[in-house]
Formats: sequence, structure tokens, C-alpha cells
Amino acid sequence: MKYLFSTICLFTFLALILSPQISAQQLIPQPVAMNLSKGTFTLTASSTVGYNNTESRGAAEMFAKSIHIPTGFALTPVQRKSSAIQFNILAMPDTKIGKEGYLLSVSSKHVVISANTPAGLFYGMQTLLQLLPSEIMKKESVNISWNIPSVSIIDYPRFDWRGLMLDVSRHFFSKEDVKTYIEQMSRYKFNTFHWHLTDDNGWRIQIKSLPKLTEVGAWRVQRYGAFGSRSEPLPGEPATYGGFYTQEDIREIIQFAAERNVTIVPEIDLPGHSMAAIAAYPELSTRKDTSTRVNPGTHFAEWFSNGTFKMNIENALNPSDENVYQFLEKVFTEVAALFPGTYIHVGGDECYKGYWQQDSGCVTLMRKMNMEHVEQLQGYFMGRVEKILKSKGKKLLGWDEILEGGSISPDATVMSWRGVKGGIEAASKKHNVVMTPTTFAYLDYNQGDQTIDPPVYASLRVRKSYSFEPVPDGVDATYILGGQGNLWAENVPHLRAAQYLIYPRAWALSEVYWSPKEKKDWNDFSARMESHFMRADAAGINYSTAVFDAIIKTSKRNETLVFEMDTELSDLKIYFTIDDTMPDEYSPGYSGPVELPSGPITLRAVTYRNGKPIGHLITLKREELEKRAAK
Ligand code: ACM
Repeated sequence: MKYLFSTICLFTFLALILSPQISAQQLIPQPVAMNLSKGTFTLTASSTVGYNNTESRGAAEMFAKSIHIPTGFALTPVQRKSSAIQFNILAMPDTKIGKEGYLLSVSSKHVVISANTPAGLFYGMQTLLQLLPSEIMKKESVNISWNIPSVSIIDYPRFDWRGLMLDVSRHFFSKEDVKTYIEQMSRYKFNTFHWHLTDDNGWRIQIKSLPKLTEVGAWRVQRYGAFGSRSEPLPGEPATYGGFYTQEDIREIIQFAAERNVTIVPEIDLPGHSMAAIAAYPELSTRKDTSTRVNPGTHFAEWFSNGTFKMNIENALNPSDENVYQFLEKVFTEVAALFPGTYIHVGGDECYKGYWQQDSGCVTLMRKMNMEHVEQLQGYFMGRVEKILKSKGKKLLGWDEILEGGSISPDATVMSWRGVKGGIEAASKKHNVVMTPTTFAYLDYNQGDQTIDPPVYASLRVRKSYSFEPVPDGVDATYILGGQGNLWAENVPHLRAAQYLIYPRAWALSEVYWSPKEKKDWNDFSARMESHFMRADAAGINYSTAVFDAIIKTSKRNETLVFEMDTELSDLKIYFTIDDTMPDEYSPGYSGPVELPSGPITLRAVTYRNGKPIGHLITLKREELEKRAAK
């Protein structure tokens, strides 16, 4: 009897696991409304694929192409009214789903995706791909049944701006890497690729009228090891590390992105973060130091505990020099001609003004303009930049420092990164805002224990990213365009390292920016997230599994060190040792704060789920535990 019961349980469990109905509950981001019903559509080599007009053709063809390799099916979409899998632009627009929403209905005989726009069809197609088994992500053919659950979905985004940023200055990502990044973000319905193209460590966009920007500015000496503590370039040392995108490359990437409903926002970071431009054209700075080199990640700045900093090497353009504005006119003429989008991001962040203060030209300009603070010079500079952009029909977007110095017009859009306060202030001044605070959206921060994940100066767990609410209390939501996640690349040497940092947090953010606020549910999301680990495995995409690890904090109770542990997932159990043995499920299970006895003790902790180890082993010596208590 017992045996029979276990067998039934096992079969029920397998049926549930294998059921396509389950895959419908694994969508990220979560759709607005979904109704599951009984039955399954099976995709086969003879399934017909169709589209109703030239606008719906792209999504149909991309679907056929996306499934070709894993299924082995060569489906050729045809223009007609009804097919087994049909993509339709609605003859009568559906106002509820707007310009990016879609309707998806799957029955045992038909799959129909309808939308007002090609963008909506593209997102419906992405949802359809997520309804297929995870093997659909494989790069080789797999012989399984390609079942899709019967379901009816109405879906549209909460925010218009759903972005991911990639810093290609600190690490040069190849054209193919950039396309892969864009392709993968579009699968999670992100629609804005913020391309951080210039910084102290490399200028990556060809400007034909200023050839030295890439001949000199795109190359630096090769260095390895922790960014910020690398050795200075030696005199005469060849600059061999780097690269840049030709305008041809950029046009190709823009086209690739457009096919995936991704708009590219290029960033030319000004007036600070410009060491690579100054290495190429030293006359753009106040000191005009011809020994300035593209920086390989040396100790070029001092950071102070009050949040201020000092640049050891000048990296800001000179706001008092008219030649600088002529330079910018040339740069933005070419940038504006290349990128079809509305916005150009002009940085504005972390501009050190110490060299301006010492420069007679800047002092004279301040006097002439009746400026009391050097900060106002940045306002003046940004105002001039905005005029250049406006003359080219583009809108200025900048980090929240553009509010300082007060010369920005209400048309400027503000990207709030130093928490959400810049965004709140900007919205109160009627600026549009993109929310991307370090506290929830900085994807370069590590996501697990500082001793397990490669060290970064701050930490951000996926659960925290998922908890982000982009519209702060009391702010008029109409000014919040949406949000994004930012991947700075000081510590990102290749694309797989980028993926490790992006996922799963970008999935969490995709849901924050797309799905209805009311549907937010961490336990539900985290279960879906795990099924996307399987999809990433099938695709060979890297991700962090830090979400399975113990979170360990310490504090002092009088003189005694106390440790507390937690997990992001509620169904994990933590086992630990403090006796220099390896923890397993027979070790003490964590149930509450533990006082650490005195002595040279090491805490070891590991997580289990259903009797199986799942997280990393975390090993913390007393010294580290003491350090955490002091924070
Ligand atoms: C920034 O992180 N410096 C915008």
C-alpha cells in the first residue's frame, strides 16, 4: 500500500513537472492576465506559420528562425489569414494593450498572437518561446515533444522605459558581444539599451572628424588585476588593449536592436570621465597635459568618507574654452546622425572641479557670469551641451548631477542613480526621470557573500532588486518614464562575467519594469527564476546562484560576537559548524542568533533543500566575523 502510494505520488509529481501547464507559470516578466486551460498545442515540422500583413512578417520570421536549430523544423512563414501559428497586426487597434502589448491565445489547434504593433508581436513571440520547453534555448537539435500549454494572455508593460546599461569603456565588448547582450535583454522585454561608450578608460565610438578619439583614445596599456590599483603606463609603453566600434558597426547594431524593439541610447560621458578624450586631445582640458594616457585602471582618484573625491589626474573638459564646444559640436553632429532615438545621454556624473578652480580661464568665466560656486560651471557647460543637442533634434539625458548648477531646461531627462532622491527632486521640477538607483539597480555590485562572489565595493541581492518600486511615494508617476539596470565593467573581463552579474537580477528588474505592481510576489518570482536558470543552462548563458547561499551577519552583544543567518529563499535550511569540520545536514541547523565562543573560531555554513546541498559553502574566520560586526 505504502509502495503504491509513493508510486502515485511520484507519477503525479512527474506529471506536474513535465506538464506544459507548468511552463505557463514560469513566464518572466509576469504577464498582466493569464488564463490556463486544459490541452496542449504541439509544434511539429508540419506546423504552418503565418502573418496577416507586412508589419507582422518580422515576428513570424523571427519565431521560425528562433525555433529552427533546437527543433530542427524548417518552417517558412507565409502571408495568410489563418495558420497553426498566426501573427496578426490588429485591424482595429486595442487601446488597452497600447504600443508594446499583445494578446496570445493557445488552443490545441492554434496559436494566435495579435498586437497593435510589430513591437507587441515581438513580445508575444518572446512569451510563446518561454511557453515552450527550456530546450528551445539549446544551440543544437533536441528530439522532444514541443508542447505549448493552452492559455490565453493579455499583456502590456507598466513602464515605457525598461533599460539595461552596458559600460564598454572599462571593458571593450566586441560587436558580437553587444548583439548578444541586446538579444538576451530583449527576451525579457527590455526595450532600451543604454550604451556607455566613453569614459576615462577608453573612447569606443568612431568620430570621423576627430580621428584621434579612437586612434589614441580607444587604446590603453594592458593590465590585469584589481581595477583602481593597477600600475601606471610606463613611458613609451605601447597601448595594446582596447577597440572601438566603427560607424558601420554601430549602424549594424542599431538595426539588430531595432529588429528586437530595442532603442539604443548612446552615452558620451561629459564633462568628467573624459580622460580618454583628453589623452587624444589634451588641449580640451585646463592643464593640457600631453602626458595624459587612457587609463588602465590605476589609482587615479581618492575617495573620501563624506562621499566627495579628488581626481589625481585631470579628466574633465574645460568649460571655459570655446574650442571644447566646437569639439562637442563635431561629436554630437556625428552621434545624432547615427542614432535614430530621441535621447542622447551626456553623463554629467562625478565631475571633479578642482582643476577648474585653479584655472584662470574658468575663474574669469565665473566672474563674467556672476557665478559664486564652481558647481555652476557644470550647469553652464550642460546648458551649452543641451543647446547643441537641441539643434540636432535630440533630447538631453544625464545622471542626476545635471540638476546641480541649475542651467538645465525642464526638457532634460534625469537618470537617478544616487538613490531615488535625484529622481524625486527632478520629478518635482517637472523633469522626466529614469530610475536606476545604486541601491536596487547596480548590476556591477556583487550579489552574494563578499567572500564567495568576486569582490566589489558593494552588494545587492536579487531579492532586493526585485523589491524595487520605481515610483517613490508622493511622486507624480507621470514623470517616471521607467527604470533600468546598470552594468559597469571595471571588474567585468568578458561577456560570461557580464552575464553572471546581470542574471538573475535583470530578470527581477524586467518584472519590476514590465509587470503590474499588484502582482509582485517574491516567492512566486523566485520559483519562476529557478526555471529560467534551466533555460539559461540550455542556452549556455551564465548566471549567479548566490540566491541559494546563506546570508551571514554579525553584531556585538556586550563583548560577545553574535552571528545571524538568513536566506533569500524560504525553503532552504542552513547547517553550520564552528568546530573546524565541514557542515552537512547532520551539523547544527540554524534557527536563531548564535553567540560565538571566544577563540580563533571559523564559521562554516551551507544551505540544503530537500536533503540536498544547494548553496556555496561559506567559510568566515573570526577576523572576518569581527569586521562585519564593526560595520
Ligand atoms: C555613475 O554610477 N557614476 C553614474
